[in-house]
Amino acid sequence: MSDAALPATVADVPTPCLLVDIDKVKRNCKRMTDTARNMGVQLRPHVKTHKTIEGGDITTAGTRRKIVVATLNEAEFFAANGYDDILYGFPISKEKLPRCQKLANQLSEFHIMYDSVEAMQWVKDTPLNPDKKWSVIMKVDTGYGRAGVLWDSDDVVTVAKAAVDADNVKFLGIYTHCGSSYDCTGVDELKKFGTTNTDRLTTVRDKLKSAGIACETVGTGSTPSCSKPADNMAALTEFHPGNYIFYDYEHVRIGACTLDDVAVRVATRVISHKPSKNQLVTNSGFTSVSHDGIKQIGEEFCVVQGHPNLRLVEMSQEHGKIRPATGDLDFGEYPLGTMLFLYPYHSCATAYNHPLYYVHSGEKIVGVWRPTRGW
Ligand SMILES: Cc1ncc(COP(=O)(O)O)c(C=O)c1O
Repeated sequence: MSDAALPATVADVPTPCLLVDIDKVKRNCKRMTDTARNMGVQLRPHVKTHKTIEGGDITTAGTRRKIVVATLNEAEFFAANGYDDILYGFPISKEKLPRCQKLANQLSEFHIMYDSVEAMQWVKDTPLNPDKKWSVIMKVDTGYGRAGVLWDSDDVVTVAKAAVDADNVKFLGIYTHCGSSYDCTGVDELKKFGTTNTDRLTTVRDKLKSAGIACETVGTGSTPSCSKPADNMAALTEFHPGNYIFYDYEHVRIGACTLDDVAVRVATRVISHKPSKNQLVTNSGFTSVSHDGIKQIGEEFCVVQGHPNLRLVEMSQEHGKIRPATGDLDFGEYPLGTMLFLYPYHSCATAYNHPLYYVHSGEKIVGVWRPTRGW
């Protein structure tokens, strides 16, 4: 979109759309960069929330180095735009190895993650250029219960050894995505959680060391844990948070940020009145907001900015239904065409629905970001 075609102000944007407050983005990113620097830990931001070059440039402070991606589509997109030192932070599968092979040969540093002897065998069976070795990180499960080798099992040594023993592989270290931090409430709980998570990861590091296996990289990452880090997280080498660029209402509820830090909103307009149901109908259904969060917290899952009594109670594909938590709606307050702004529960899920983001500073639209999509 040329600058001439840009809407002039937030009041002029087509709805529904995603608004990105660039000043809040910069503030959130500076805070996380400072946190990591003050702790002596390398920040390797995850790009999965925004999936844009512009977001990557802000989170890497313009270096275009050291990012984590969730999909190979992201890896290829960022590599094509001059990014290097990319970690594909997802358990490797055989099907994806040919594309990883290309990236590993093309980039000066490309790292993959694995969590089984079987997956390491596929890696060993995939040759790289003679001057290259696969750089691998073993994914550890410190309690989240998703992917990763269980931190307190003897498998950590067996699975690490499978990489160490391979001629075409460099074992870089270990990583855990501490997703259970999303179950915490408040700074004290987050710090207690971070302490335990770090203890578990350093236990794995020490166990590997005893088996003669060195970990150059010992990383963890989630936005809640890295926003309010425990002191012992300074013993780690890398942080991999991603959502902090935008934050969202979920992080406000957790206590990782304040509502004022949330840098994204869905802009929507009132398209119909439904007095028989005490409801406003808007043009933002689940394709622009996403349902993520509604199962967990029902009608509280979105915040309507400046209207604390309004609740987004239901969505179909393109329609949203809003009604007051208590009392009768004054429809005169919300004429057709009224703009409302929703703080989403989970900005990763919400942003994913939008082919472009309108970026604003104050009320002025200053640009658009076009995210990459696919896997
Ligand atoms: C492996 C991995 N690392 C890092 C992150 C970033 O965590 P967050 O979304 O809390 O910033 C995620 C998010 O899902 C992840 O899956």
